[in-house]
Amino acid sequence: MELRAPKGTADMLPETARAWERLQAAAAALFERYGYEPIYTPLFEHTELFARGIGEATDIVGKEMYTFDDRSGRSITLRPEGTAGVVRAAIEHALVPQGSVAKLYYAGPMFRYERPQKGRMRQFWQIGVELLGAAEPSADAEAVALLVRYFESVGLPRERMRLLVNSMGDERCRPAYRDAVAAHIRANADGLCEECRRRADTNPLRAFDCKNERCQAVMADAPRITDALCDECREHYEAVKRRLDALGIAYEEAPRLVRGLDYYTRTVFEVQAEGLGAQNAIGGGGRYDGLFATLGGARTPGLGFALGFERTLLALQAAGVEPGTSHGVAAYVAAVDESCRAAAFALAMALRDAGVAAELDHRARSLKAQFKHADKLGARVVVVLGPDELAAGQATVRDMETKEERKVALADVPSRVAALIG
Ligand code: HAM
Repeated sequence: MELRAPKGTADMLPETARAWERLQAAAAALFERYGYEPIYTPLFEHTELFARGIGEATDIVGKEMYTFDDRSGRSITLRPEGTAGVVRAAIEHALVPQGSVAKLYYAGPMFRYERPQKGRMRQFWQIGVELLGAAEPSADAEAVALLVRYFESVGLPRERMRLLVNSMGDERCRPAYRDAVAAHIRANADGLCEECRRRADTNPLRAFDCKNERCQAVMADAPRITDALCDECREHYEAVKRRLDALGIAYEEAPRLVRGLDYYTRTVFEVQAEGLGAQNAIGGGGRYDGLFATLGGARTPGLGFALGFERTLLALQAAGVEPGTSHGVAAYVAAVDESCRAAAFALAMALRDAGVAAELDHRARSLKAQFKHADKLGARVVVVLGPDELAAGQATVRDMETKEERKVALADVPSRVAALIG
């Protein structure tokens, strides 16, 4: 039987792989300008990290984790997201001593056992940042601005993005709000799906995320968190919005935006893009001032975001933006006949050693076929090696743009090609 990649996974073929690398490089360049440094954490962690960090009553922990016992019997889970691992590492390596700030970014695969559909995969790729140690609203505004700037920097027009913001309150005001939402669910139980009814006892705020239209209608009338914030949380939220206003970053307040992870406190945000259908959230994040303590560390504020590669790519495609640059061959070395192949091979190697992206044909194909291949690769220069030229210690260098040809001594070919490609 022919084996295929598991459902919900995809091979990143060269064009997509190139787009991923381009989006990662763009992220690294931009994030470094904002003071972020790279971090890599394991693709799998102890299951309790996610259970505690993300929350037992979330969909992610309840039904989407890839969990298995390793050979020693410990329960291991493939990471469904990056924040819990980064915070675990920050605690383990004391990356955020009292009073200091750490800014970290990462990119890599995440795993969630979800029902696959357009923009929703079981293995998907995220780029994310975590800003640890800063409680001030300017940190929230900087992270929100960075997410928007990132999408702009890779070519997604601002008008194709919606930026949603909300505040989730904190451990002072949220419990009472949760109770109010639970009461709303119980009072309207008849109009809700079974799962939402159950949520009144487990995790009432998750009912805001239910896809069922009847549930959405009921939850539209639920109490709003923004009416239930304590003074400190309200002031924090107002200050974040003031900073965004001052930066000229347009946003919509979304009082029902709760996001699917339980660690959030105060600011949450999401960027949605046009042309994606149901899975239109290309990136999102928020503040998590309780997460360090939940994971056994000293109380440390934190916030961050992650964006999904597949959805970003879909959003760019829907906007008509080409995210992957083409294969970067600058010079193609063509051999006129068999007697020139060894010299062509040596010349291609010399070009590469000189820093020029060069290609040649390893099969014994005709000169015409080689020119076609060069054309397909978009080579800017073709270097032709024939028996006569070779006898004279030369090659013909053809500029494919101007069609100009020149005979050049073999030793001078790399510098001539470098000059042509600028
Ligand atoms: P999240 O909203 O669960 O947040 O995921 C962030 C992004 O990952 C989403 O906006 C989406 O683009 C992408 N994504 C999520 N699930 C899938 C999937 N099944 N298939 C394809 N793409 C997906 C987090 O993961 C948080 N850790 C973000 C964060 C960082 N909050 C604070 N710091």
